[in-house]
Amino acid sequence: MKGLILCGGKGTRLNPITYSIPKQLIPIGNKPLIAYTIELLLQSGIEEIGILVNDYNKAVFQQVLDTYFDKKFHYLVQEEPKGIAHGLLFAEEFINGERFIMVLGDNSFDFDLKGFVQDFKTSEKNAKILLKEVENPERFGVAYIGDNRIIDLEEKPKTAFSNWAITGLYGFDKNIFKASKEIQPSKRGEYEITDAIKWLLQNGYDIGYEKLSGKWRDVGEPNDVIEENIDKLSNIEDHIEGEVVNSNISGRMILKEGSAIYNSIIRGPVVIGENTIIKNSYIGPYTSIGNRVKIEMSNLENSIILGSCNIWGVEHPIDSSIIGEGSVIRGNKGMKKTHRLVVGRNSRVYL
Ligand code: DAU
Repeated sequence: MKGLILCGGKGTRLNPITYSIPKQLIPIGNKPLIAYTIELLLQSGIEEIGILVNDYNKAVFQQVLDTYFDKKFHYLVQEEPKGIAHGLLFAEEFINGERFIMVLGDNSFDFDLKGFVQDFKTSEKNAKILLKEVENPERFGVAYIGDNRIIDLEEKPKTAFSNWAITGLYGFDKNIFKASKEIQPSKRGEYEITDAIKWLLQNGYDIGYEKLSGKWRDVGEPNDVIEENIDKLSNIEDHIEGEVVNSNISGRMILKEGSAIYNSIIRGPVVIGENTIIKNSYIGPYTSIGNRVKIEMSNLENSIILGSCNIWGVEHPIDSSIIGEGSVIRGNKGMKKTHRLVVGRNSRVYL
């Protein structure tokens, strides 16, 4: 079976980061978000993968993914982001009438896809959706289940009467292309994948589903990016290639070649890329730092620092932040500052 990953769209909820990098390429633990999905597909035996992109970001996808995988992918271009069901039509020729797995490029899954793939490959179903029970179903496509079958689907309902969100992982046969050509744009002006599946349901096609017990996240907003980074860093193993001088390291850390840490405190899990220098600083848990970054006399934690940033003299911790490539952040270290203290007997104050 083939795999299709959708990475068109505008990513406006992640502006301004997405002005310079498509959201599916945002590094999570120093690896592009989409790379985890590609690995998931490869591990489940899907070898031929199509990636649907916008015309203007095809080159950046190609360039980034070439550095992570020896494999070549098929890049398909959606002329304009008019919705997921519109996007998949640009893959019709690539799919060539076969059954396939489609994944939304901004989704993250922590489960074994093999079972889902095997089941869909051999079943008679025309489509299969993967559902996850959530507390905020109104943010997603929602499935209504009755008698162990899907009875209705709705995209981002005002009030959802089911907590089963439709995740961005689907099994389809060729009828999804037919359905996607039949539907009309939704109120938000998009050709919705949920409406295409609903069309299949209403026209007598067989829709299966699986309930996901593993983790799933729609990485649509800055907070999702930070949370995703926390999850991915929770699983890292120690791997030190760079140099550590006169520093206190605790917790797990990945430190890549050419990087060095001087007179600093590191509390893992922390991932640090290549040729990055950290001096006289504190780097707290769940922080990913890219390549060629310089951090001096600064404190940060729970954050993602993209490549070639320069952070200097930031005493108050940078927390839960995403700093875009090449950014310069200067603190006021060295300038006159005062501390006002009202302190009782035998106190200890560390400043
Ligand atoms: O994350 C799951 C949800 O994803 C589902 O529950 C919804 O039913 C589904 O419609 C979708 O909703 P979103 O509003 O989150 O979709 P978003 O616009 O973020 O796009 C999801 C992915 O599809 C993203 O990687 C970009 C890609 N895309 C999107 C559009 C609108 C395209 O490739 N082309 C497009 O035209």
